[in-house]
Amino acid sequence: MKVRALGIETSCDETGVAMVEADEGGCSLIAEELATRPEVHGALGGIVPELTVRQHLEILPRITLRVREKAGTGDFSVVGATSGPGLAPALLVGLAFGKALAWAEKSSFYAINHLEGHLYSPFVSRGNWPVYPHLALIVSGGHTLLVDAINPRERSIIGTTRDDAAGEAFDKLARMVGLEYPGGPAMEKQAYGGEVGNYVLPRPMKGAEGCDFSFSGLKNAARLLLEKHPELAGPGLARSHFCAEVQAAIGECLADRCCRALSQTGRKVLTLSGGVSANQAVYRSLEEAARRSGAKLLAAAGGWNTDNAAMIAAVTARRALDHLAPNWETDADPRWSVALNS
Ligand code: KG4
Ligand code: ZN
Repeated sequence: MKVRALGIETSCDETGVAMVEADEGGCSLIAEELATRPEVHGALGGIVPELTVRQHLEILPRITLRVREKAGTGDFSVVGATSGPGLAPALLVGLAFGKALAWAEKSSFYAINHLEGHLYSPFVSRGNWPVYPHLALIVSGGHTLLVDAINPRERSIIGTTRDDAAGEAFDKLARMVGLEYPGGPAMEKQAYGGEVGNYVLPRPMKGAEGCDFSFSGLKNAARLLLEKHPELAGPGLARSHFCAEVQAAIGECLADRCCRALSQTGRKVLTLSGGVSANQAVYRSLEEAARRSGAKLLAAAGGWNTDNAAMIAAVTARRALDHLAPNWETDADPRWSVALNS
């Protein structure tokens, strides 16, 4: 059996629509559209819910048409929309749009967990279905999670952040030194030519019990550094050194927690997804951590690491292939956990 699934993603500031074609052998992307307004969010220093919702409302119909045109026939048998976790009003727009579209096209509908999309992306970005068991690190602007994915119906959270998410730390530290939003990519660019160790930041939770993370201490340490070295907030080599140190600190913390989680669970595959996984220094730290732990690192391929609708379409297709009951009644759940126990 082959299915064509349309996925809709509106959990945060990205508006995404994608179509995939899938069977038991794997899943391939047919067409995708992704839109965001970094200039709007950047100018305001972050995401403004009402502007984000208006952006989704305006963009969704247009990019859905475009995806259907690009896909050729435009037909699909199932629609899936992100219904959590995320920004409630933004989720509601995508969910209502997805249900209406599925109803009008007489197709079935699934409410999809955004984080399950992130769990899928390292595999489906290569055309494959997830392999179990595996340990997953999701590092984005809203989440820093270590998930033990035992099988498709059973997964548990074994590590989470006690305060800021890793991406949030990148964004906040970047802002402190005058870099634009989103801070992670700006910081990675600025780190070229910089060296680790010239301005020292702590490695919060490194060596601590358990697998939790904490990044808020980096802000306080950076504040003290900035008081002493105001030149860090302007263009130049000093800021490059600072950015290289931030990447190293966050990368080392993530790597340390992953090593613990790998030894605790005995998993041999570590997956990596979410916006922060685009960072090369972070990637190298995790690759090294996996190697030291006798595991293989599988990161979401380019374009699939940040928020996208292709991963939502892929989870939707899997639901249809597994003949799961459609869930028209599911409401938006801003705090929907990725943990699953059935
Ligand atoms: O997964 P994502 O697109 O959206 C969610 O938050 O769900 O992740 C966005 C986050 C932002 O905090 C952004 O600064 C960070 O990922 N990010 C990066 C890089 N690209 C995106 N952080 C570090 N280095 C990057 N190259
Ligand atoms: Zn995300």
